[in-house]
Amino acid sequence: MDGQDRGISRRAWLAGAGAALAWSASPARALLSLVGERPLPATVEALIPRMTLAEKAGQLNLLAAAWAGGAATSLNPAGAASSFDTQLHMVRRGELTGVFNGNGAEMARRMQTEAVRRSRLKIPLLFAADVIHGLRTVFPVPLAEAASFDPDLARRTARAAAVEAAASGIDWTFAPMVDIARDARWGRGVEGSGEDVLLGRLMAAARVEGFQGSGLAAPDAVAACAKHFVAYGAGEAGLDYNSVDVSERTLRDIYFPPFQAAFAAGAPTVMASFNDLSGIPATGNPWLLDTVLRQEWGFGGLVVSDYTGDEELIAHGFAKDGRDAARLAFLAGVDMSMQSGLYLKYLPDLVEKGEVPLARLDEAVRRVLALKVALGLFDDPFRRIDPAREKTRIRTPQTLALAREAGARSIVMLRNEGDLLPLPRSGKTIALIGPFAGGGHDLIGPWNVYGTDREAVDLVTAVRETLPGATLDDGSDVARAVATARAADIVVLAIGETQTMSGEAQSRTEITVPAEQQALVEAIAATGKPYVVLLRTGRALALTGAVAKAPALLVTWFLGSQDGPAIADILFGAVSPSARLPVSFPRASGQVPYYYAHRSTGRPNPPGALQPYKAHFRGHPNSALFPFGHGLTYGKMVYSDLRLSSPTMGDTPLTIRATVTNNGRMTATEVVQLYIHDVVASVTQPVRVMKAFTRVTLAPGARQEVTFTLTRADLSFTGRDLKPTTEPGAFRLWIAPSAEAEGLAGMFTLA
Ligand code: NOJ
Repeated sequence: MDGQDRGISRRAWLAGAGAALAWSASPARALLSLVGERPLPATVEALIPRMTLAEKAGQLNLLAAAWAGGAATSLNPAGAASSFDTQLHMVRRGELTGVFNGNGAEMARRMQTEAVRRSRLKIPLLFAADVIHGLRTVFPVPLAEAASFDPDLARRTARAAAVEAAASGIDWTFAPMVDIARDARWGRGVEGSGEDVLLGRLMAAARVEGFQGSGLAAPDAVAACAKHFVAYGAGEAGLDYNSVDVSERTLRDIYFPPFQAAFAAGAPTVMASFNDLSGIPATGNPWLLDTVLRQEWGFGGLVVSDYTGDEELIAHGFAKDGRDAARLAFLAGVDMSMQSGLYLKYLPDLVEKGEVPLARLDEAVRRVLALKVALGLFDDPFRRIDPAREKTRIRTPQTLALAREAGARSIVMLRNEGDLLPLPRSGKTIALIGPFAGGGHDLIGPWNVYGTDREAVDLVTAVRETLPGATLDDGSDVARAVATARAADIVVLAIGETQTMSGEAQSRTEITVPAEQQALVEAIAATGKPYVVLLRTGRALALTGAVAKAPALLVTWFLGSQDGPAIADILFGAVSPSARLPVSFPRASGQVPYYYAHRSTGRPNPPGALQPYKAHFRGHPNSALFPFGHGLTYGKMVYSDLRLSSPTMGDTPLTIRATVTNNGRMTATEVVQLYIHDVVASVTQPVRVMKAFTRVTLAPGARQEVTFTLTRADLSFTGRDLKPTTEPGAFRLWIAPSAEAEGLAGMFTLA
């Protein structure tokens, strides 16, 4: 690869490479505002005037990888047929900025070699992928991991995922998904952190930090992409891709903050969402992508469309044809087009005809080049492409151990009557019954491109490590399952959703346990045997009958590579459950969207019996069966001694203390939560909002003081003028084990 071949002298290339390295070594945080604004290294900047319009458009054209069918094809609608050879040809002609969901280092090596040897300007390619919850080591689905209420865990799994991804030639992940999801019908809530803004912000930031590690240029870092901008989780009726009509206040209070947190943590890219926003599709929305994102927040990074998001402006009834769609998306602020090819096809002509300013094209190209520089690709286009490293860095014992730890810490115990759990390790016979008790399926969960159930460990395999005699019955024949149950001392029922029931385009009209499995649980419950229900799910479910009443009930989600071992760790008490619901489990599907931080209404039903003409459903209070934040441990936690540093908050922060005591017989970790309610405000405020949480691990009999600090900024909301505001007056507060538990309640006044 000599300098001549690159089209620039080798000396200039090396000098440029050094400059690029220095440029990209700046911390991710600084990069945030600098990508696209800070001058590029001179050698890279010098490329721009040399590029043809077609080459510029090529830098904005990202396609699903075609190598061996490309993993992307199974997770997205079929695209225009493209062969690997065609893509190599496009690379040579400078028509492709990179590909996504490709197939590892070998593919990347071949494509990158083509780019840096045989294209005119030798601009390196960018390799992207949906690394949502691990690559080949699969971690719990993000919603499950959010249940850990432990951002540091999310940081660690994202780091491990990035190491595997970067070892496979991947530079850029389409993650984290930071959409607040309050409608459990929507299938994609599984990819995010649930209904709460604080938890969503903390998880967003932690995942970005984990993906990007010590800095984007590091060979084991991948660039993060906060998605989907914005309010994609608020589609009407929970229907995927559906229209969204929420107020600007709701955007600012609920849907924007996790994106702001991701950017503050250094995410250099963002993906525009598929949905329209009060009539203007996000992908063609200049208010969103320019006024708010660029001008108000100062975001200097790259905006990429979702998969054919630009082309879909036609189906939205917003653009008249592909050319119009490209123009509208591009002028609105979408820099890079994913999969439609429309930018490549139309931008050169749009610029030539004066319909798109050349300056806008250069600006978008500059952002792409800045990202490639930041990722260190101009310094060494092969820094993440090493087939040898790919072999040694995948599914290491350390990452598999982390998957097991993360799995156990994601399991939420909703009930444990009479301390049925943990199960005895000997002396009792256990029957594992239900479709998810064994069989190596539905373990890794939705939206995983590279992992397989084949490489994951199922429940029966893990349980038999401890109890080799545990019996297994898939529950398909209820009479036989009843006989299996009768022959055992304790029944463990593994039921719930399959992994295709959540994820993209998998909205459900009823968020219930499938009927045949409900019938199975009813039949087993009727035997009178003690039973434990393990709920496999990618969303909140409305539980009824013998499932809702199960003596022991665990939400086990989809835990990934170490699904079975993680569940067994909880079942046998090697690990005490410590996770909490990141989404409210309502009483019925008809309550959805149900979330704890709702407003009061003018006619709230007081605690207790349902009253006439109050806000409740026929026969159902407007509350959760299992609220956000709920989750039990193997300890017995008691909260006492609420103390506030002052009854009034002025400019000094308020300190709030309480004591937590473990009166149980096992060491356990409690997630203590702080909620507030602004009693009277010029804009009505939610009945409760979580402001802080902390994890406390207590041995039997131990007690610990927990301390929270509230500042004036914590009491801010989007005021009538749509600006952050705080208003003096009374606030209620609670230190509680869930969003709907009374816990310890107090009051203070903001001066
Ligand atoms: C569509 C999804 O909405 C998005 O999240 C994903 O990154 C792309 N497909 C690419 O696979």
